[in-house]
Amino acid sequence: MKALGIDIGGSAIKGAPVDTTTGNLLAERHRIEVDKDMPPVVMARVIGQIAQHFKWRGPIGIGFPGAIEGTTIRTSANLHPKFVDCDGAKLFGRATGCRVAMINDAAAAGVAEMHCGAGRGFMGKTLLLTLGTGVGTCLAYQGVVVPLEMGHLPWRGGKSAEKFVAASVREKKDLSWHEWGGRLRDYIGVMENLLWPELIIIGGGVSAKHDKFFKYIKPRARLKPAEFLNQAGIAGAAMWAVEAK
Ligand code: BGC
Repeated sequence: MKALGIDIGGSAIKGAPVDTTTGNLLAERHRIEVDKDMPPVVMARVIGQIAQHFKWRGPIGIGFPGAIEGTTIRTSANLHPKFVDCDGAKLFGRATGCRVAMINDAAAAGVAEMHCGAGRGFMGKTLLLTLGTGVGTCLAYQGVVVPLEMGHLPWRGGKSAEKFVAASVREKKDLSWHEWGGRLRDYIGVMENLLWPELIIIGGGVSAKHDKFFKYIKPRARLKPAEFLNQAGIAGAAMWAVEAK
């Protein structure tokens, strides 16, 4: 099966056709820079351009950085507030002329990693974190991926934890790997006490540099970098397009 996977992020939208059995990208991904204040109607046009780029006429899966209920977006912490309560299947379906399935971006990464990546074949409890503009989280158990919003765990003074531990915070505040790694260790420690994962998978672009910060995390669980790196969102969203019921 083939589907078009699209990953909506804070600075770019990326898409590619995907073989949904292997998670392999079937063409070079197409990336369009966006700005985080782009309203939904404008972003829908960009999604339309991505589908057009591949002359796509088939199922589309879209990973969005927010809580999703069915196909409706319920939160938009790092994108335009007008996304809240938007039906993504309708909005992006109209823009592309295709059937669209919606999934949280971190859950999409979880689907790709559990089916074909770092969690392949593992049935125990797995926590996946994506570290980027925000912090995305999901749990997987016995092959089922459950989206979470643990990036918004109240942290130091009640702000969302992602404001302290996202990869974007390390860059913005120019934190050393040691300092940022220490923040991650504290955050992941709390999550371990609440969720007791046996395996933790770290995704997002920064996972390519895992040798710089994994040594500071020291979790109880086994720790692995995501195999799809930052393409997990595209691959998993496409898989979701053929899996979603
Ligand atoms: C959003 C999550 C998303 C994460 C990573 C958070 O701010 O609330 O839904 O998975 O960022 O993009």
